[in-house]
Amino acid sequence: MQISRLSDALGVEITGIDLATAAGPEVDAIRDAFHEHQLIVFRDQKLTPDQHIAFSRHFGEHEIHISKKFLLADHPEILVLSNRKEKGEYIGVENAGDYWHSDLSYMTRPSLGSLLYALEVPPEGGDTEWANQYAAYETLPGKTRKRIDGLNARHTFNRFRNPRVHIPDHAKKNEKQRYEKISPDDAIHPIVRTHPVTGRKALYVSPRFTIGIEDMPDDEAQALLDELFAHMIRPEFIYHHKWRLGDLLFWDNRCLVHLACRGIPEGQIRHMHRTTVSGDVPF
Ligand code: OGA
Ligand code: MN
Repeated sequence: MQISRLSDALGVEITGIDLATAAGPEVDAIRDAFHEHQLIVFRDQKLTPDQHIAFSRHFGEHEIHISKKFLLADHPEILVLSNRKEKGEYIGVENAGDYWHSDLSYMTRPSLGSLLYALEVPPEGGDTEWANQYAAYETLPGKTRKRIDGLNARHTFNRFRNPRVHIPDHAKKNEKQRYEKISPDDAIHPIVRTHPVTGRKALYVSPRFTIGIEDMPDDEAQALLDELFAHMIRPEFIYHHKWRLGDLLFWDNRCLVHLACRGIPEGQIRHMHRTTVSGDVPF
């Protein structure tokens, strides 16, 4: 097993390992690299859904996504991301990750990490970016760090309650009902969270899910959020990934945010499977 850095910001690539059979000391080494580098790229993997699920299980319990419509048949641990249509309907989440976010931050107990596996990759477009939120926190001006210390923010899954998220006209009717039906109650989390393993502090807000700050007038809160959202994705915090067939990426949702770059030309297919590992209540 060889480990090499992917960028100055975050991430390593691990080669010489078959995730279908990884066990024992290999898994321990992967877990250590994960805590140290926040994201791991594994190339050329050939995994069945059961093998993907079994590998993910080394890192915690599985979270079953609230978008029940897009869970893989007979494997509810797997969320399908796809722009393929059957009978005029997408067969997976088509707009997953279209704004910067951390997975499941809208839950009381958000996700520890996600494992996204590329089954079909378009020749062009469909890249993903991650931004290091330890670095984002550490480089904030001292007075901003003081200001956000001890503050809590409100997170929601419901796109229709977030003015920063654009809703295309065609989605306005049916999607509104669906979001209202499946969205859990808002979650309230500290703006600065402490990683339960590394003990490091990270910024924990995002334009996709964070809609307000508790105990702060809304105009002030929105201005502060805008400032944090602009800072947290500075280019030096970012790793940009071009997917290859057989890539499996495992990232830490407690200290990274990520974004689907989209831009897939009409007629090209991107099809992926995601497992989501349960995490702790942020503190
Ligand atoms: C996700 C996600 C982005 C992408 O799977 O959680 O945000 O580029 N994916 O598919
Ligand atoms: Mn995501």
